Amino acid sequence: MTDRDMETDHLPENTGGSGNGTLTKDAVADDPFQDPGLPAHRPRVTDLDPKAAKRAERQVALLFLISIVGIIGSMVCYTFVPNTRVHTFTGLGTVNMNNLALGLCLGFAFLALGGGAIHWARTLMTDVDLVQERHLMKSDPESTAFAVSEFKQGVADSGITKYPLIRRSLLTAMLVLPLPAIWLLRDLGPLPGDSLRHTLWAPGEKLVNPNTGQPLKVSDVTVGTLALANPASLNDVPEERIDNLAKSAVLVVRLPQEALKGSEAQKKKQWDWSVDGVMAFSKICTHVGCPVALYEQQTHHMLCPCHQSTFDLSDDGKVIFGPAARSLPQLPITVDADGNLVAVSDFREPVGPSFWERG
Ligand code: FES
Repeated sequence: MTDRDMETDHLPENTGGSGNGTLTKDAVADDPFQDPGLPAHRPRVTDLDPKAAKRAERQVALLFLISIVGIIGSMVCYTFVPNTRVHTFTGLGTVNMNNLALGLCLGFAFLALGGGAIHWARTLMTDVDLVQERHLMKSDPESTAFAVSEFKQGVADSGITKYPLIRRSLLTAMLVLPLPAIWLLRDLGPLPGDSLRHTLWAPGEKLVNPNTGQPLKVSDVTVGTLALANPASLNDVPEERIDNLAKSAVLVVRLPQEALKGSEAQKKKQWDWSVDGVMAFSKICTHVGCPVALYEQQTHHMLCPCHQSTFDLSDDGKVIFGPAARSLPQLPITVDADGNLVAVSDFREPVGPSFWERG
């Protein structure tokens, strides 16, 4: 048995053609793409049963009546409902009572009006199958010939064949036209080299509170809190390193040692890069670089609001949800003689979107 036999096996033997919704085996064999026609028309219950039609009529009228009540109700509410604020039960805060009543009345009115119209059309309006024939998309030969002759006449009238200097200069101008669009690409440069791999963090660089500029101490960060930090040298950054600023922002959290997950080596590295569990992670999402800042203190999950990438800080910043492709980099930190948190070094891997690593 061939594939064709299997495809047509369910069809009846030839009974004299198609076009009424029934294809036969022979018809399919002759022309596999022929028009199967419309399926047989199925009358609705309301076409067959006058009682059902009457019922549908009453339902439509009832919906229109509800709409009338809603419209009148909206005018009554507008006039008599006071402009006081009431609490909703949906967590949306308070709403104006007058607005709420007006909105509900108008909402029901339009809903009922639309529902009535749809129900009317589906149950009672004339139900016939219509075929709309499409005309041929191609122009007839006369129109085609006319268009060609008009085009040729236009070419002749322009004199483009007669004046080669104009023709060549026009073609050159058209070739040059797209060049500005390509030229603008130079704004993407200069090539970043390895500048994307470095931030302002360096050995001994203090972590400071971005609002007060005060150095962050171990005691400032307790379990469950989230602190933001910048490098202390932020304000002395030379102009050419200005783009390193945003990349340097870090989040500081404190995790109990028993909360750490992963392999022993990973837990050791994460703990060694912290000060009594105070850890600093890059604030730049490794997806496309939004600032991550939504910290779930019970689970130690950090959420990026842009596309919901979620990082588990207790598991070396690993991605547990969302489109980010790699962990949130951790900044190795220690403490200086004054009890201030300082960086041990720069990040050991590039921060930000994964494409920074490519190449
Ligand atoms: S930038 Fe963070 S999830 Fe897309």
